Amino acid sequence: MKKRITVLSGDGIGPEIVAEAVKVLDRVGDVYGHTFEYTYVDIGGCSIDKYGVPITDEGMQACLSSDSVLLGAVGGPKWDDCPAEIRPEKALLAVRKQLGLFANLRPTKLFPQLAGASPLKCRIIGEGIDLVIVRELTGGIYFGEKKTEEKDGELTATDVMTYSEHEIERIGRVAFETAMKRGRRLASVDKANILDTSRLWRRTMHMLREQYPEVEYSDILVDNAAMKLIKDPTRFDVIVTENMFGDILSDEASMLTGSIGMMPSASLSSGTRGMYEPIHGSAPDIAGKNIANPTGTVLSAAMMLRYSFGMEKEADAVENAVAKAIDEGFRTQDIMAAGKDDGCRLVSCTEMGDIFAERI
Ligand code: IPM
Ligand code: MG
Repeated sequence: MKKRITVLSGDGIGPEIVAEAVKVLDRVGDVYGHTFEYTYVDIGGCSIDKYGVPITDEGMQACLSSDSVLLGAVGGPKWDDCPAEIRPEKALLAVRKQLGLFANLRPTKLFPQLAGASPLKCRIIGEGIDLVIVRELTGGIYFGEKKTEEKDGELTATDVMTYSEHEIERIGRVAFETAMKRGRRLASVDKANILDTSRLWRRTMHMLREQYPEVEYSDILVDNAAMKLIKDPTRFDVIVTENMFGDILSDEASMLTGSIGMMPSASLSSGTRGMYEPIHGSAPDIAGKNIANPTGTVLSAAMMLRYSFGMEKEADAVENAVAKAIDEGFRTQDIMAAGKDDGCRLVSCTEMGDIFAERI
């Protein structure tokens, strides 16, 4: 098969981790007889520096006309004072919106060999963590009206959070379907004791629940969910939640996997085109040092193979290569548990990419 991929490397460690994912995809192409054609487009701060906007119209067009999009990370302190309209993150939200990527899957899996790298005690995570966060990605407070205005002699800022039934229903369906293919347990996270959007969320989920009687469904308030994720993470199978709650809970959940560098994500629409990115940011403090962990990005590429290209065995091959490398003891600095990793070898970002590719 031949597939066209738009590559948005972005800022900070983005280009380093994306290069390793491309290395792995090329290896998949060689082994399984596929051709991946890449179009590189600037996004975020690097695009602001070059063109004055976080993504150009041509760049957006490239995303819209390719089979899939691979993203590194955007943003950094250099662009923190940019006006809201041209901030690096604005481009990421625009791509998500324009491509209709309403469903963001964030698998949270602990490789047992990395239990020592997690800040949580082994007795909490020891039984193994394997959950998926299904985050709504094109609605809620991220996309509502925003304004800062002068009122009674001081500045007042407003961010509006809105959800319509159809937006909740379509993400709910993705979550129930995901649960059906896994452990058939779904926790819907909201703040229905306070927010109208959450009350509509809950009502819509309850309507869907009737259609999926095999799924053991529960409602959890977001503050309680944040606590339970740390206290009793193995109780979770699939978590569905709105945009901002999902953003926050997925960073929290990443600590169950040992490092935020481990976590991939797939942003999906109703069609086959998706965008695939690690959940972490651009980590400007370690950029250019060749020490970033490319695993989250490589696993995101595996999700691209599976969800956008229907290449199941190729996706399995990438995931198995990652598991093998971890099992053989190769570690980037973030997953090297201090003093406890006898026999493990500290490797750079590029070495880790080579090791993954060689194991396919
Ligand atoms: C994420 C990130 C983004 C988000 C930022 C970079 C806009 O934190 O993908 O989780 O908030 O969605
Ligand atoms: Mg985030």
